[in-house]
Amino acid sequence: MTQTPDEPVPGRVLELVRRAQRVCVLTGAGMSAESGVPTFRDVQVGLWERFDPAELATPRAWEEDPALVWSWYAWRAALVRGAEPNAGHAAVAEWQRRPGVELSVVTQNVDDLHERAGAQVLAHVHGSLFALRCGVCGSPSAAAYPEVAEPVDHLEPPTCEVCGAAVRPGVVWFGEALPEEEFFAAVQAAQDADLLVVVGTSGLVHPAATVPHLAGARGVPVLEINPQETAVSEAADVVWRTTAAQALPRIVAALPDR
Ligand code: APR
Repeated sequence: MTQTPDEPVPGRVLELVRRAQRVCVLTGAGMSAESGVPTFRDVQVGLWERFDPAELATPRAWEEDPALVWSWYAWRAALVRGAEPNAGHAAVAEWQRRPGVELSVVTQNVDDLHERAGAQVLAHVHGSLFALRCGVCGSPSAAAYPEVAEPVDHLEPPTCEVCGAAVRPGVVWFGEALPEEEFFAAVQAAQDADLLVVVGTSGLVHPAATVPHLAGARGVPVLEINPQETAVSEAADVVWRTTAAQALPRIVAALPDR
């Protein structure tokens, strides 16, 4: 059951968050939902209705039609630029600034809303939309997405300053390996925590979805914040069926002064 806004923080949640000193917050698309950033699983609108995002976000799509993939990312980048961090992002940043608490943010999101809310992100395990790099030699690129007021379905990607090949979004596509260092840091932070908070992820995309299980296996208490049951729910010790922007500010408000 989803909580209504004025219901208090459940007792079992309070118990976990009040005593936690090393917190790891693992976030997914649901974290940015209340900022209006659509997830892959949300219905595609307008021009993009006829494309399956799970097929656009692949190395194969990029090889076959880079201009199509680039224009889709330009559109997503415009959506993210137009979005603002929500109260959940702000609460995570505030929790991180609390004296006596070490809090690591691990996100599957490729947006920059945690950073724009003032948080430091330990690992973007699926990369970052705005960290452009060459699709061939891997050199970071100073290019940027074009401003697109209207969705356009073919825009030529910029070319690499080093080798001249097409520049691609710095995200992890389906079928690609996760950035090793970031994933390692994420697993370590989750396993070393005394509380793992899992917010807004369906737990369907691996290997990121293994993080709660790996932490749980080490005895780290896992708290899930999600309005729906997910593949992570089973691994969670405590579940709060509400949204990120509802739950996180109330959790931070309930923390003890140290
Ligand atoms: N607050 C919290 N959770 C929410 C909210 C909200 N306001 N709104 C939706 N959710 C939950 C949904 O119930 C769902 O469980 O967020 C989850 C979103 O699931 P996915 O869209 O599968 O997102 P995620 O788990 O991050 O996907 C993993 O797959 O889309 C690719 O690479 C992309 O990083 C992404 C990966």
